[in-house]
Amino acid sequence: MIDIHSHILPGVDDGSKTMEETVELLRIAQDAGTTTIVASPHSDPEYTYDPERVDELIAEAQALAGDGIKIVRGCDFHLMFANVNAAMENPKRYTINNGPYILMELSDMLIFPNTTDIWRQLENYGIRIILTHPERNLILQSKFELIEKWVNEGFYMQVTAMSLLGMFGKKALKVATRMLDKGLVHFVASDGHDAVGRPPRLDTAFEWVRQRYGGDMAELLFVDNPRAAITGAYVDSFSPDSERPRPESLWSRLFHRG
Ligand SMILES: [Fe+2]
Repeated sequence: MIDIHSHILPGVDDGSKTMEETVELLRIAQDAGTTTIVASPHSDPEYTYDPERVDELIAEAQALAGDGIKIVRGCDFHLMFANVNAAMENPKRYTINNGPYILMELSDMLIFPNTTDIWRQLENYGIRIILTHPERNLILQSKFELIEKWVNEGFYMQVTAMSLLGMFGKKALKVATRMLDKGLVHFVASDGHDAVGRPPRLDTAFEWVRQRYGGDMAELLFVDNPRAAITGAYVDSFSPDSERPRPESLWSRLFHRG
């Protein structure tokens, strides 16, 4: 499996605190079947994101962890003015593996009315939006129609693995399940922060999805789409009523994007 969202690097945000802990988190991920993990520190009002420093820490962690798991750079990009400006100047500062995809986090307090316009602006700079854990967002939890609209408009959705296991509450589980039922999820990622409370593992959630939605769906959300996010290929959607990922959804998205 490939995990596109984690906070495993030491001292850069509220995730790992030491390089020893980082190595432990990488071991946990690897033992749970993750072969590639995106280290995506926060860039938000609280934490400053420095891609050069992140690259240094990745090199250090990679050397200690060995080659059983590969670490690539990403960023947990909070939607705020300074971030958007900096991304327009240099999109690859924030995107996953220097490709087109970005992990986009919205505030729990306020969703700007022009959010879609800002995302379209970023798309003009070659950025493709992956909205992180909408099922955990307090505003989106009661605005399901907005999640649906955004997916129809060509934006991508990442659900947190632990939401599917009920660890972020009943509401998050309910929204995530409804999203899965309607084929509105493109990725499941760990958003792992530590070894105990929020470990960077995907195995239990993979099995949860596989049992309820089948192996093809689980492969798409935990393996194929995450791989596409890293290589810059097209991400596909999957509706539980269809037997396989529908090629027309890819084409409609291509047309939609012009
Ligand atoms: Fe995160």
